[in-house]
Amino acid sequence: MKIEQKHLQEIPEITDAKVQEALAVALGQTRSCLPKFSSEFKHIFSNHNFYTTAPNNQWTNGFWTGELWLAYENTGDEVFRKAAMEQVKSFLNRIEQEIETDTHDLGFLYSPSCVAAWKITGDDTAKKAALMAADKLAERFHKKGQFLQAWGSLEDKNNYRLIIDCLLNLPLLYWASEETGNPKYADLAKAHFETALKVVIRPDYSTYHTYYFDPETGEPLRGVTHQGYSAQSAWSRGQSWGVYGIALGYRYNPNPRYKELFDHVTEYFLEHLPENLIPYWDFTFTDGSDEPRDSSALAVTVCGLLEMADCVTGKERQTYLHLARCLFRPLVDLCAAKSPRESNGQLLHGVYGRKTPYNDCIDHGIDECNLWGDYYYMEALTRLSRKWNPYW
Ligand code: GLY
Repeated sequence: MKIEQKHLQEIPEITDAKVQEALAVALGQTRSCLPKFSSEFKHIFSNHNFYTTAPNNQWTNGFWTGELWLAYENTGDEVFRKAAMEQVKSFLNRIEQEIETDTHDLGFLYSPSCVAAWKITGDDTAKKAALMAADKLAERFHKKGQFLQAWGSLEDKNNYRLIIDCLLNLPLLYWASEETGNPKYADLAKAHFETALKVVIRPDYSTYHTYYFDPETGEPLRGVTHQGYSAQSAWSRGQSWGVYGIALGYRYNPNPRYKELFDHVTEYFLEHLPENLIPYWDFTFTDGSDEPRDSSALAVTVCGLLEMADCVTGKERQTYLHLARCLFRPLVDLCAAKSPRESNGQLLHGVYGRKTPYNDCIDHGIDECNLWGDYYYMEALTRLSRKWNPYW
C-alpha cells in the first residue's frame, strides 16, 4: 500500500482522546433519538439534517438498528438494547410478510440488525429472521451468470445485473453457513464475489457501479451506473463499497489476490481525495468544484481499512491503521454532528443520489445525513476504541 500522498502525510492521525470525545458525542446523538425512533424507523436521509420517521420498508432500516446495537455495546445501557430488540421483532415480521424483500439489500438490512442481535444477545427471534433473510437472498443467485441479482424481479431480463454495493450483503450468507453448517450460502457468496471482482474493477482500479450480463448465456455485457456521474466515472461511494467489500471477502477467504485488489482499489480512492480529504460524491469532481461531498463514502472506506487491519499483522496492520486514523480525523472535525440541536443524525454532508445527464437517478439526500453514513461513522468509532466483533 502506497501512502506517499502528500496531503495524507501532512494530516495527523486522530488521537485516542479525540476518538473518546467523538464517541461520547455520537452516543449522545443516538440517545437523543429515543424513545421516538424505537417503534419507528428513520427515513433514508435527513431533511435539513433532521430525520423524520419511516416504516420498516426501505433498504436502509438495518443501519439505524445497527447504530442502536453499537450504542448498547459501547455503554451497556438497557435503553439501547430494548429499542434495538423492538426493531428486531419488526425485522422478523418484515421477512415473514416479505415486505420489500425482493432485493439484494437483505444483508444491509439483516446483518446490523438481526445478526448483530444474535451475536450480542443470543436471541432466537433474531437468528430466525436473519436465516430467513439469508434464504431469500440466496434465491437471487443466477447460476448462468454466477451472481446475485441486485434489484427487481428475477424474471426481468432488464434487471440481469449485479452492483458493487452487494459485496456488503455477502457476510449474511457466510454467517448463515457458519450457523447452519450448510456450505451452500458461503458457496454462493464466494461465486458472486469472484464474478463481481472480475467485472466491476477496471484496469486503473476504479470501479463500475453496476454490471449487466447476457440473460441467455450469462456472459458479462457492460458496466453502467445508477448513482455515479456516468458509466465510466468512479462513483466515490461505489469505490468505498469496493474497499470495504473486498476487505470482508478477504476475511472470509484470505486469498492474497484479494488483498492485492484491496490495496489497488483503496489507493484509487486515496489518490482521488481532495485537499480536505472529504470525497466529492463522484471522483469526476475535484478541488474547485461546487459539487457536494459524500462524507458517507469516507466513513465506509475507513471501516474497510480497519477491517483489513484486523485481518493482517505487523507492519501491514500498522499501515492500514495509520491510514484509517488519518482519514477519520477530518470526518470528525468537518462532518460529525456536534449536538442534537444541530441534527438528529451523526454524519453531516452525505449524498444519496445526484442526477446527471448520464445516470438514471434523481436529486435527493444532498448535503444531508444518511443512515449508512451515520452507522459506519459509529462503527469506525467503535472499532477505534475497543475490540469489536463485527456484525458483517
Ligand atoms: N446501496 C445504495 C447506495 O449506496 O446508495
